[in-house]
Amino acid sequence: MKKSMTISSIKKSKGLKPLVMITAYDALFASLFEAESDMILVGDSLNMSFAGKNDTLSVTMDQMIYHTKAVCNGAKNSFVISDMPFGTYTNTEDALHNSIRVFQETNADGVKIEGGKEKADIVEHLTSNGIAVCGHIGLLPQSVRCEGGYKIKGKTNAQCLSLIADARAIEDAGAFCMVIEGVRSDVAQEIAKSVDIPVIGIGAGCDVDGQVLVFSDMLGLFEAFTPKFVKKYLNGADLVRESVKNYADEVKNRNFPKDEHSY
Ligand code: KIV
Repeated sequence: MKKSMTISSIKKSKGLKPLVMITAYDALFASLFEAESDMILVGDSLNMSFAGKNDTLSVTMDQMIYHTKAVCNGAKNSFVISDMPFGTYTNTEDALHNSIRVFQETNADGVKIEGGKEKADIVEHLTSNGIAVCGHIGLLPQSVRCEGGYKIKGKTNAQCLSLIADARAIEDAGAFCMVIEGVRSDVAQEIAKSVDIPVIGIGAGCDVDGQVLVFSDMLGLFEAFTPKFVKKYLNGADLVRESVKNYADEVKNRNFPKDEHSY
C-alpha cells in the first residue's frame, strides 16, 4: 500500500507548505483523520486521554505497539509516527532494540523521541541503523516530574540559544523532522529558520513548518485541562453527552428501537 507522504516528501515540504500532523490512538479515528493529515502521530499522550493517567510516563512499549498497529490498520495510506515511551531510549542499545520492535511489529514509518543535544547520539544511532526519527524539543512532557510541571521554553536568551543548538544537533544526527512544543513564537520561528528539516509546532506559534494537535484536545473530548495553545474545533464532549442522554431517554421511554431498527 503506497503511503501518501514519505521521508523525502516531508523534508521537501519545508518552505513550500505547512505540514498537518494530528494524533490518533485507534483505527477508527485514524481512518477519519487520514484524508486531511500529512502525518499521524501515535502520541504517548494516549496515556492521559485514552488511559486516564496523570502524565505520559507510565505507558509501555507493548501498549504503544498495540495502539500503533491499530492506527496503521485504520490509516493504511498515512505516514505514521510512533512515540517512544519514557525510559525506552535511555541508551543506544535499548533505543535501537525498542525502535526495531516498532518497525518489525507495526507498519509505522518513524519513531519520535524527546530531547535535544543530550539525545543526539541516540538519534544518530537509530538513523544510522535504518530507523527514521522525528525529534521533539522544547517542552518535553516526559520530563514533567523532573521539571516539576510543564514549563514554557525560550523565555531567556540562553534558553533560545540552547534550543537552536538542540534543533541543529537533532538535524545533524539524521532526524527527518522534529516537533517543537511550548516555545515562544518568535523563538520557534528562529529555530525553524536555523534548520533545513521541517519543524512542527505545538504551542509554538504559526511561523514554523507545520502544526500538531492532540486529537482529543482539538475535538473537545478531553476535559481534564486545556492548554492555552489548544483550539477546540468541536465541542465533542458536549455532543457525546447529549447523544448518550438522548439514547438513554429513548431507551427508558421505549422510543428506541423503532420499526426501522427492528427485524
Ligand atoms: O504525545 C503526544 O501527543 C505528543 C504531542 C504533544 C506532540 O508528543
